[in-house]
Amino acid sequence: MRLAVPKEIRAGEGRIAASPDMIKKLTGRGITVVVEAGAGAASKTTDAMLSAAGAEIATDAAATYADADIVCKVQRPMTAAEGTDEIALMKPGALLVGYLSPLQHRDDIRRYAERGLITFAMELIPRISRAQSMDALSSQSNLAGYKAVVEAAALSQKVLPLMMTAAGTVAPARVLVLGAGVAGLQAIATARRLGAVVAAFDVRRAAKEQVESLGAAFVEVPPDAGEEMEAASGYARETSTAYQERQAAKIHELALKSDIIITSALIPGKPAPMLIQEATIHAMKSGAVIVDLAAEAGGNTALTRAGDTVVCNGVTILGQTDLTSRSGVDASQLYARNLLSFLLLILAPESAALAIDWNDEIVKGALLTRDGAVVNPLLTS
Ligand code: NAI
Repeated sequence: MRLAVPKEIRAGEGRIAASPDMIKKLTGRGITVVVEAGAGAASKTTDAMLSAAGAEIATDAAATYADADIVCKVQRPMTAAEGTDEIALMKPGALLVGYLSPLQHRDDIRRYAERGLITFAMELIPRISRAQSMDALSSQSNLAGYKAVVEAAALSQKVLPLMMTAAGTVAPARVLVLGAGVAGLQAIATARRLGAVVAAFDVRRAAKEQVESLGAAFVEVPPDAGEEMEAASGYARETSTAYQERQAAKIHELALKSDIIITSALIPGKPAPMLIQEATIHAMKSGAVIVDLAAEAGGNTALTRAGDTVVCNGVTILGQTDLTSRSGVDASQLYARNLLSFLLLILAPESAALAIDWNDEIVKGALLTRDGAVVNPLLTS
């Protein structure tokens, strides 16, 4: 059994889909782990560290993918149209696991099927207790939430804690967090640790208790009678136009007092909700910083540009999509642990052989293609 870990080649991606710890565990079972030379360079995991853990280092992508039975990736493979055809490097019948963005890139999924690949999307692993150790969405969002506050604090000319000095008292910074899921809650915790006064908003009722337990104020915008804010999956739904108007008015009022805003509101499979209007940004304090963690999904502000920084009227809006890679050391370690947990589910106990239980809830949730067909109900219905 050969397991390949290619170098990630998408712009801005600095993580590696392996760690020395993961490699030791897999090689201990008799699996040959092949890592492309330099794959861990951006996350400070050297070839020497990977080799000492038992990996073979391959000189290039072709040598890494050659004959691999399992391919572990962070980002979805590149396509010919994007410059390099990574899908063509995989042998027919190989198993691919990574963030495959299946809902956004359905053509890729059809190609996986045509190539006879068995593919699993890490982002579709169901969020049940048994799968907690495989939950890459959580492990990575957690780091993004932390990094968002640290980046905002570095850019802001306002200090975050209350400071009482002989020259006078400095008031603490006001931080507003929009979207209190995994990333938002970590942003709240980080901003609180730095001494800021924090308020947070989410459409899910369950978020209130979590926000308050971290010492932040929860901002409420009551729904219309009968309006359901949560889908059966526990994720947020798209809101009504009337709700969006009330929400925009409340956010406008809070934004004017804020020194830093972290936005992280997402609706799975849909564009990110628009929470901060252009007029609000124009009215905000000069020097305020917004970090938009939803930039890749379209952004939570009217002016966000994914991968870029926009300055409007003295307000800086960061739309960087590589915040997790900027914590590449820890992000790679945690992601590799998520991958290892998933691999242990689909390998026979103490063995190098695959033993996939196709009826397992986690397998069924994450499986995209098998036997030449697209099989995930999210893609077929
Ligand atoms: P996410 O990344 O999809 O969304 C982030 C946040 O944005 C969510 O809290 C969502 O409610 C919020 N949001 C969406 N639309 C909004 C709007 N218009 N205004 C304000 N906020 C808005 O979600 P994430 O962070 O991946 O997870 C959140 C959900 O997943 C929660 O239900 C959480 O409890 C659940 N979860 C469960 C886990 C488990 O092990 N059972 C692990 C992690 C999360």
